[in-house]
Amino acid sequence: MGLELAYSDDVARATESLYAKVSSVIPKVEWPAYAPVIAEINRLKKEKGAVILAHNYMTPEIFHCVGDFVGDSLALAREAARTDAKIIVQAGVHFMAETSKILSPDKTVLIPSMEAGCSLASSITGADVRLLRQKYPGLPVVTYVNTSADVKAESDICCTSGNAVKVVETIAKDFGVDTVIMIPDKYLARNVAAQTGVKVITWEGACEVHERFTAQEIRDYRTAHPGIVVLAHPECPPEVVAESDFAGSTAAMIRYVGDNKPRRVVMVTECSMSDNVAVEHPDVEFVRPCNLCPHMKRITLDGILQSLRTMTYEVTVPADVAARARVPIDRMLAIQ
Ligand code: 13P
Ligand code: SF4
Repeated sequence: MGLELAYSDDVARATESLYAKVSSVIPKVEWPAYAPVIAEINRLKKEKGAVILAHNYMTPEIFHCVGDFVGDSLALAREAARTDAKIIVQAGVHFMAETSKILSPDKTVLIPSMEAGCSLASSITGADVRLLRQKYPGLPVVTYVNTSADVKAESDICCTSGNAVKVVETIAKDFGVDTVIMIPDKYLARNVAAQTGVKVITWEGACEVHERFTAQEIRDYRTAHPGIVVLAHPECPPEVVAESDFAGSTAAMIRYVGDNKPRRVVMVTECSMSDNVAVEHPDVEFVRPCNLCPHMKRITLDGILQSLRTMTYEVTVPADVAARARVPIDRMLAIQ
């Protein structure tokens, strides 16, 4: 796919300004392979009335060169609800595409690979949530967006890492309880509990990318790079968050760099984040040990082109499930 596209003078000209943006993270010799695919994706988007929602973990040629809207899970969900485009291509993982479809049921939602899953989403089913409710009657179920539509459909409210603290505080107050069921990420749940004073009953789920970071690793960064600022995603184990200077969603980490302009920083999260943020902040030194998310990396430039050309893979959610899943998502989105 994309092999028949040539790096012509026209393509070089049309993509010149895009290359200027990513030249610090994409070697010049690689650009002739990317540029024709980027130009064709951007042409097809216009022709078909499509918009690409790209998560912060996408590689730089996707994030900076074809993404129409980039952000964390929360921002992408808000944009999916708001966009006028007829077609949404989700450059992210399957649960994000499902959320887009639930929020925009009349739009065509495409994902370039059906194998772009998530270890958190696959850790729990709707039936598991029903059992939890039986075991803990009366407690609200706060469900991380990194879950299937079936799981959301059984929930009282959703959250992302960007709003989890606010969501948990709000729902505990609304229900008049001091404990919530927060699923499926045991680490996010414990990190939020530590910040709120609300007790959590959680699930044995974890992000396969963030659970691999250790507190010792953070101490080693500090020794090797004196003065380094450590930013961590709240899917990391609590002892990693405790060793960090700041914990927040992917968007919150990006904002931290923009607002504080640290001299040296390490983002304890998926690899592409540092590349994407470094493009915008040439004066900040990024130390870049990281863990790859194999699911996010299923989304490639060629896959996006294929998706737009063949209108695959269409993400659907049964209408009854979508209607029930929309309630906790809307409840989350109503919290500012
Ligand atoms: P954000 O909501 O912070 O973008 O995180 C999504 C995710 O999958 C992190 O692993
Ligand atoms: Fe899921 Fe972790 Fe990948 Fe995010 S980084 S999509 S939580 S496996």
